[in-house]
Amino acid sequence: MKTKGLFITGTDTGIGKTLVSAGITRLLLNRGNSIGVFKPIASGGTISEDGKLLQMAARLPHSAYREIVPFHYRQPLAPWVASWKEGKVDLAKIEKAFQKAKASCDFLVVEGVGGIQVPITQDFFVTDWMVKWKLPVLIVVRAGLGTINHSLLTVEALQRRKVKIVGVLVNGYTGKGIAERTNVKALKKLLKVPVYGPLKYNPCYRKDLDLLAKDMAKLGLPII
Ligand SMILES: Nc1ncnc2c1ncn2[C@@H]1O[C@H](COP(=O)(O)OP(=O)(O)OP(=O)(O)O)[C@@H](O)[C@H]1O
Ligand SMILES: [Mg+2]
Repeated sequence: MKTKGLFITGTDTGIGKTLVSAGITRLLLNRGNSIGVFKPIASGGTISEDGKLLQMAARLPHSAYREIVPFHYRQPLAPWVASWKEGKVDLAKIEKAFQKAKASCDFLVVEGVGGIQVPITQDFFVTDWMVKWKLPVLIVVRAGLGTINHSLLTVEALQRRKVKIVGVLVNGYTGKGIAERTNVKALKKLLKVPVYGPLKYNPCYRKDLDLLAKDMAKLGLPII
């Protein structure tokens, strides 16, 4: 493996970041690597479903959960907005947890929060973690209509901050609709970063992470 870790972001919330993170984690694990997983902050409910899936993908015990997701807001809101009622985020605690997670494995898979400009505080955004942690970034994008605009905006904003982009991964392909069938070609022509996929929409993936890992292996991502 060429890098010490990967930051997985997306063009939106609900785009497939957790699923893709879980697939990459399980694939690297199945190949005998020492893999850690990290989600710096989660919002919504009392326990993060993302954190649980990442924990399962890495085959870590339940007790590892608090280290995988060091900070949690109950309201399903952007962290800074959630903090208005629930109190300020503890960035130092998250930083400490990140350094510990990084030191505990050979390769750390970090899942972001929503898209790249989600405010963690009023003046600290998801992109600031990418810059601070110097991790290469994989951008998960939707397969259907709207993805060209969102993908171009995200790539441009990351390039402005000099973040290293591994590529764009088109996720959730059903093949139904002309936009899905033309978007990969269009993205390849418009973007100067690699475009991977599409990864198909398959409702079995969440329950069968080895199947997901097997299908992800075929995408040719450079880190796996
Ligand atoms: N390729 C796929 N096949 C089937 N289901 C998918 C696929 N990609 C994502 N999903 C499903 O879509 C939903 C959203 O995906 P996921 O939770 O990975 O998004 P996310 O970007 O991590 O969202 P969040 O911003 O909340 O962290 C989940 O139920 C997930 O299982
Ligand atoms: Mg997620």
